[in-house]
Amino acid sequence: MANWDLKGKRAVVTGGTRGIGATTADELRALGAEVLAVARKPVDAHAVVTADITRAEDRERIVQAVKDRWGALDILVNNAGMNIRKPWTELAPYEQATVVDTDLLGPANLLRQLHPLLAQGKAPAVVNVASVAAFVDVGSGAAYAMAKAGLVQLTRSLAVEWAGAGIRVNAVAPWYIRTPLTEPVLSQPDRLERILARTPMKRVGTPEEIAAAIAFLCMDKASFITGHCLVADGGLLSLGL
Ligand SMILES: NC(=O)c1ccc[n+]([C@@H]2O[C@H](COP(=O)([O-])OP(=O)(O)OC[C@H]3O[C@@H](n4cnc5c(N)ncnc54)[C@H](OP(=O)(O)O)[C@@H]3O)[C@@H](O)[C@H]2O)c1
Repeated sequence: MANWDLKGKRAVVTGGTRGIGATTADELRALGAEVLAVARKPVDAHAVVTADITRAEDRERIVQAVKDRWGALDILVNNAGMNIRKPWTELAPYEQATVVDTDLLGPANLLRQLHPLLAQGKAPAVVNVASVAAFVDVGSGAAYAMAKAGLVQLTRSLAVEWAGAGIRVNAVAPWYIRTPLTEPVLSQPDRLERILARTPMKRVGTPEEIAAAIAFLCMDKASFITGHCLVADGGLLSLGL
């Protein structure tokens, strides 16, 4: 099992205080990484930079915290995200902007601002947390879908642009995972039944299953993988008739 770990790695996980992000932060720590979580609200348990990824000055605080602590960055997990689930015609322009800022422009600008520190990292790796909504309509609303689709293409473009600097850039695309974000949907029996009917594995995923996929893409073991989007969906995208 040599090198199936993240020993000595320095990682930032946005949205690292709840749901998929918190579980990913725990997984990276268990594999030997030091982790700095980012969220708007602080939590006591671990190191957290209090920052809103949609605000340029807050993103600069994240950069400063990494500079002060490590001087370089090996792993960025761009996980923070949200949704306002409404039909396109009912989504107010400010709501559309909030979704796109959080799910696409915030992560994209954080990548730009952290690039110099990633470029100084050891075998640096980025994982952007997208969604199957980037590929098919899953009732998430168009703003979330287009933002996540943009995040997947950003992943491919930066994988190419940053390959020369040795920075790998990948994404994961989950289907339904039980977290505080999805609990309001999954707690409705009729909604859950419709979701399971479309899922060949007949269950939703766990944060641990996404954290494992993210951790693998961060490892030096994944050293030839870049520009890839790893779908973790219980078979959803493979289901035809
Ligand atoms: N759960 C699913 O089924 C599912 C499926 C596909 C994709 N995803 C994606 O997976 C990611 C995580 O989802 P989740 O279900 O774990 O969400 P969650 O349980 O709602 O957790 C979101 C995390 O992001 C932080 N956050 C939200 N907005 C932020 C902002 N503007 N700046 C900084 N931090 C922010 C939250 O902390 P604060 O509120 O304190 O800021 C929290 O730590 C998201 O990108 C989501 O789109 C989830």
